[in-house]
Amino acid sequence: MTRQSVVIGCGSYLPDRIVTNEELARSVDTSDDWIRKRTGIRERRIAADDQKTSDLAVNAAKEALRAAGIGPDNIDLIVLATTTPDETFPATATRVQAALGMTKGAAFDVQAVCTGFIYALNVADNFIRLGQANTVLVIGAETFSRILDWEDRTTCVLFGDGAGAVVLQSLEQENEREMRGILSNHLHSDGRYKDCLYVDGGPSSSKFVGKLRMKGSEVFRHAVTNMVSVLEEALKCNNLSAKDIDWLVPHQANKRILDRTAQKLKLSPDKVVVTVDRHANTSAASIPLALSEASMDGRIQKGDIVVTDAMGSGFTWGASLIRW
Ligand code: COA
Repeated sequence: MTRQSVVIGCGSYLPDRIVTNEELARSVDTSDDWIRKRTGIRERRIAADDQKTSDLAVNAAKEALRAAGIGPDNIDLIVLATTTPDETFPATATRVQAALGMTKGAAFDVQAVCTGFIYALNVADNFIRLGQANTVLVIGAETFSRILDWEDRTTCVLFGDGAGAVVLQSLEQENEREMRGILSNHLHSDGRYKDCLYVDGGPSSSKFVGKLRMKGSEVFRHAVTNMVSVLEEALKCNNLSAKDIDWLVPHQANKRILDRTAQKLKLSPDKVVVTVDRHANTSAASIPLALSEASMDGRIQKGDIVVTDAMGSGFTWGASLIRW
């Protein structure tokens, strides 16, 4: 018998406020045409002033628990990926734990920026495979609007706020060939590229939280290369090829990155789940938001081969291959 982590429920939450490209063009020197052509983004959601990352996360978590048909008491562990925690400490995951009414188990944050959800999924999967947890809530939640320089047109048009969550549960299975759940995880980082995408502040380096800074074209180039190579690594590890993929659910940074990645893998564009047009880049929240959308609307079905991949600041990048 092999113990695998199976997704038993997904949930998501987006703040009510929609900010269109036209609205942004009223405050910075940009246009709807430029943003759509270079990124595929039409609009993004922005959290209300009194909404924190944990508030978004709690809403997504509740929906995922409802979809899974279980209550917070069944959760052994919360792993929350975020770059925009409510405060420097405590971990935002513990705020979510309290808001859900949980008094047992453990909760902590993982920080790998836009690759955060893949890192969190990998950590949760390891806890389950080792028998240290049976049911884990994995959340990606961000309020990137708080760390954007709203006068910098090269970055402020790219990001949005939101949260997504999945519930993973252990399943003992016998049939190796039909095994459901997370089949493999692949994580990478290369800290030499930290200056390509970073926040110019933080508790140990300055008095301020700081704002996001980015060398866009350099990030773009590395994103395509790294995402293609990690997807090939995941396929090879499972003796699969691109034609076996039912759904690619990538981190949503830029539609051109998604198109280029699919093209290099010779993967049909209609197998790629796209939300960047409506959500923009929600960093660690983008993959669980997309997973949630595609599972709720019936595109992702039980038994499908689903591959998720991401690349972010650090650089960090990674992929998880799942038989749903
Ligand atoms: N509106 C209008 N013009 C803009 C603009 C905006 N919002 N942002 C930049 N420009 C201008 C630039 O100033 C530049 O003008 P110049 O030629 O007069 O200097 C021109 O558009 C081209 O800029 P460039 O940066 O070369 O454009 P690009 O095609 O590389 O697209 C990004 C810029 C940011 C959209 C693209 O590089 C990208 O998506 N990078 C990856 C970002 C990312 O995914 N980050 C997160 C990773 S997790």
